[in-house]
Amino acid sequence: MTQDEMKRAAALAAIDYIPDDCIVGVGTGSTANHFIDALAGCKGRIVGAVSSSEASVARLKGHGIAVFDLNGIDRLPVYVDGADEINHQLQMIKGGGAALTREKIVAAVAERFICIADESKYVTVLGQFPLPVEVIPMARSHVARELVRLGGHPAYREGVLTDNGNIILDVHGLRIAEPAKLEAEINQIVGVVTNGIFARRRADVLLLGTRDGVRTYR
Ligand code: 5RP
Repeated sequence: MTQDEMKRAAALAAIDYIPDDCIVGVGTGSTANHFIDALAGCKGRIVGAVSSSEASVARLKGHGIAVFDLNGIDRLPVYVDGADEINHQLQMIKGGGAALTREKIVAAVAERFICIADESKYVTVLGQFPLPVEVIPMARSHVARELVRLGGHPAYREGVLTDNGNIILDVHGLRIAEPAKLEAEINQIVGVVTNGIFARRRADVLLLGTRDGVRTYR
C-alpha cells in the first residue's frame, strides 16, 4: 500500500463521522483533498462545508458543495483535517500547507476534530517535522531572532504567502516535549499570528491509515 493509498483510506473512514444535515469543517492538504472527494459522494446528505483555505474552497466548489462563511453559522459539529505529525496524546504539528491559522480557527469552533493521516505521521515526540509559524511580514527578523532564543533554527519559506497575506517561518531542530507550553510561548512573540502546534485544541479522534488497515485512536 502506498502512502497516498493510506491517506485515502483514512479519509474515506472519516465519512462515517459526518452527521446528516450538518455543515462540515474541511481542512487542507493531500489527505483533506481525498476527504473532499469522498464528501462529494454523499453531498446529498450534508448542508455544505466551511473551509480552512482558498485551495479547499475551490475543490469543494468544484464538486458542487456549498461553502459557508464561518461567521454565518450557528454550530460546526465536526472538522476533518490532516496533520504533519501527531503524537499519542493526539497533539499535532500542522501547517505544512501554510493553512495553519485558518485550520486552528475552524478547529477551535468545531465540536469534534477528526484527524486523518497515514502511518508516517504518528510519532512519540513532536518536532522532527519543522514547525510552521505564520508571521506578519514586517516582523520576520524579530520573530526569527526570538525563535532562535527558544532553541530553534527558523528558515523562511521562500515564495509562500498565506491566504492571510503573511509569511511562514519553518522552525527546525525543536524537540517538543511540552507542546502546550511551547505553543503558548511562541504565540506570545509579537508579530506571530499563530504557530502550527495544535496542543490546546488537539484531535478528538485519529483515523490512521496503515498497511494493515485504518486504526482508530481516541
Ligand atoms: C496544511 C496542513 C496539512 O494538514 C498537513 O500539511 C498534512 O498535509 P498532507 O495531508 O498533504 O500530508 O496542516 O496546512
